[in-house]
Amino acid sequence: MIVIKNEREIVAMRAAGRIAGTVRDEVAAYIKPGLTTQEIDLFAADRIKFYGGKSAFLGYKKYPCHLCISVNEAVVHGLAGNRRVQLGDIISLDVGVVLNGYIGDTATTVAVGGCDVLSQKLIDITERALYEGISCAVAGNRVVDISRAVQMFVETNGFSVVREFVGHGVGKTMHEEPQIPNFVERGRSSPKLRPGMTLAIEPMVNAGRPQVDVLKDGWTVVTRDGSLSAHFEHTVLITDGEPEILTCQEPKQLRLKQS
Ligand code: MF3
Ligand code: CO
Ligand code: CO
Repeated sequence: MIVIKNEREIVAMRAAGRIAGTVRDEVAAYIKPGLTTQEIDLFAADRIKFYGGKSAFLGYKKYPCHLCISVNEAVVHGLAGNRRVQLGDIISLDVGVVLNGYIGDTATTVAVGGCDVLSQKLIDITERALYEGISCAVAGNRVVDISRAVQMFVETNGFSVVREFVGHGVGKTMHEEPQIPNFVERGRSSPKLRPGMTLAIEPMVNAGRPQVDVLKDGWTVVTRDGSLSAHFEHTVLITDGEPEILTCQEPKQLRLKQS
């Protein structure tokens, strides 16, 4: 069942999303060479607390950290530990905040200090793929329209989309229906988008092949071929008009191209 949020719930989703987006940006700005991923996790925990929220991830299926930190060939769900991030690493930061029972889920990928041209291209293409997807998050379209836009953009630019993990509805729980794949599967039925749906759209893009594995820690997802991976995510509200991005410091309505 796909939950349609009422006005009260949308207000709550905006508040949770704003904190998640703010913390994402603060953590991204905090990253510098030599920090351990544990220190980054603690910083995120502090900022979430400062805004009166709670991590949506800590304890979720026994997940042990406040955010997901995925370095280089790690795709998603990386765990914090004593690893030090280095100049040139690319770090995906996924932040989930619960506030008054509603969740904002958002991710970004940043270079530590700076990075090589391929890494930067991967980051840029993944972020732009997210916005290609969001621009299709319009009432009357179907989920597959988002999936197609993301996949087309990524593959046209020579990268690949992960199949095993997908975007999702989000609200009182982190993973609601519908699933939002970043690829098109022939013959798969695809729900229509309706005002009041809140969706986490989240391209996970590999520089090499799409296949992934889960490490022995039970969480960290890595590319099978060891290539770099990037991840961007926003929680988005379907409206009567343009999609509203909830995981921003200021809620943003995406201005769609004139058609
Ligand atoms: N935030 C992830 C997502 O975008 C889910 C993280 S689950 C956790 O769907 F347990 F790893 F935190
Ligand atoms: Co997320
Ligand atoms: Co998500």
